[in-house]
Parts: sequence; C-alpha cells; structure tokens
Amino acid sequence: MPHSARIYDYWLGGKDNFAVDRAVGEAMIQAIPGMRFMAAENRKFVHRAARELVVQQGIRQFLDVGTGIPTRPNLHEVAQGISPQARVVYVDNDPIVLVHARALMLSTPEGRSEYVSADLRQPESILSDPTVKDTLDLSEPVGLTLIAILMLLGDDDDPWGKVTELRDALPSGSCLAITHPTADFAPAEVEQAVAAATGAGMTLVARSEHDVLRFFGDWDLLEPGLVPVSAWRPDEPVGEPRAAYYWAGVARKP
Ligand SMILES: C[S@@+](CC[C@H](N)C(=O)[O-])C[C@H]1O[C@@H](n2cnc3c(N)ncnc32)[C@H](O)[C@@H]1O
Repeated sequence: MPHSARIYDYWLGGKDNFAVDRAVGEAMIQAIPGMRFMAAENRKFVHRAARELVVQQGIRQFLDVGTGIPTRPNLHEVAQGISPQARVVYVDNDPIVLVHARALMLSTPEGRSEYVSADLRQPESILSDPTVKDTLDLSEPVGLTLIAILMLLGDDDDPWGKVTELRDALPSGSCLAITHPTADFAPAEVEQAVAAATGAGMTLVARSEHDVLRFFGDWDLLEPGLVPVSAWRPDEPVGEPRAAYYWAGVARKP
C-alpha cells in the first residue's frame, strides 16, 4: 500500500520510499505540478514555527504528532540549536517511520528526543504513554505540532474532537502549530490530487479555511493568523503565497 510518510519523503527528495509510493506521488504531481515545492514550503514552516516557539514563546518541550520520515533539520534540531535542553516527543503510528526516527533523530546530551508509537485518533493513548509522561512536564507549556497530518483523518474520525482532547491536556502558554492542505486556492488541481490518493486506498481530505480554523478552538492565533503556509512569517519575500496549497497557523493557549 502507498503510505503518506513515504510519498512525502519522495516529494522531498528522500530515498525511503517504494515504487507504489512513487506511483501515487507522481500521479499527485501530475495533478499539482507544484507538489514538491509545497512539501518544501511545509518543512520551512516547521523551522520558522519551531524558532518562534522557542525564542518568542519560551517553549522548551514539544509534542510532535505525525512525525514522518526524518528530514533534516528535524524539529528537535531546530529547537535544540537554540536551546540545547529542549525536549521533543515524536509520535507516529507507522512502525517504519519510528525505526527511521529512532536511528536518525538523536538528541543533544542536554535535551531529549523520544519516539512513541501511538495514534492521533486515540489522543488518550498519546497522553497516557509512559514516555510522554516521563519526558514532558504537562504543568509547563508544550509546543504541540500537527504538521501535515490532519488531512489523513477523515471527518468520520472527528479530528476536531481529537485535537481538542490534546489541547485540553496542555497548560496555559502552550502553543499549537498546524499545517493543512486546502482546495481553497486551486480547487480543480487539489480535487484531482485527492482523487489520485483516495483511488489508491488512502484517506486524504483537503479542508477549508473555516474547518482548519476550528482546530485551534479558543486559543489565540499569533500574527499573521491562519495564512497560506509560505506567508507565515517568511524569512524571504514571497512571490505568490497561494502557490503552496496549505493553510498554516500557530496559536497560544490563554
Ligand atoms: C505527510 S507526513 C508529515 C510529516 C511531518 N509532520 C512533516 O510535515 O514534515 C504524515 C505523517 O503522519 C503519520 N500519521 C498518519 N496518520 C496518523 C495517525 N492517525 N496517528 C499518528 N500518526 C499518523 C504518518 O505515518 C506520517 O508519518
């Protein structure tokens, strides 16, 4: 079966993918020629958001759900590059992702990076995991990152309810960073790409601005709000921000 982590790895130029992943990845590129660019923009957002959370929001511990096959720099490398004591728990439900993560995502001696096999559809299994409890102090702010994962949950899975359960478990000052693909900017292209993925047996849901906003609940969106991923505090001037069909935002718990 094609798998989201390996298709994404293929778009990013990685080598940890199989023919079946490349076939779906190529079919999606046929639909959206800018797909590789979109994946790269999504990664750049991870770096900018992690920097913001450490430098401006003082966050020193992260819960990253939907880790993916490692792509440097990974979240802990960005966070520990600024604060070597930073702790990151990586959560994924794919065993292959976790094998790669354990081998490649090594912490600084001062900090920690840990790997947990759990499913976003069962938030309680994440929150009650012994490694999560041992690594993260849930009385201190946490950076929760849900980067390019929520589209893999259908509406039937109630992704909003699952994210709410995670948000509710975190203390004031915690932050939530999300990216999510959308059909808002280029409906026909995205519809064709979604059809390629679902035709191959995957769940893939592009969501509207309104539906992505709902994930943040009553948390306060940091400037510039929910925007096209390339437009979230870019390091360099952006040509056409809507060229990457992802919404992105970071919010802080009051
Ligand atoms: C497209 S990759 C995103 C990787 C990374 N967050 C990034 O944006 O660079 C999605 C990841 O989410 C994982 N995933 C999918 N559904 C999941 C679930 N229900 N629970 C936990 N992880 C899941 C996949 O195994 C994959 O590694």
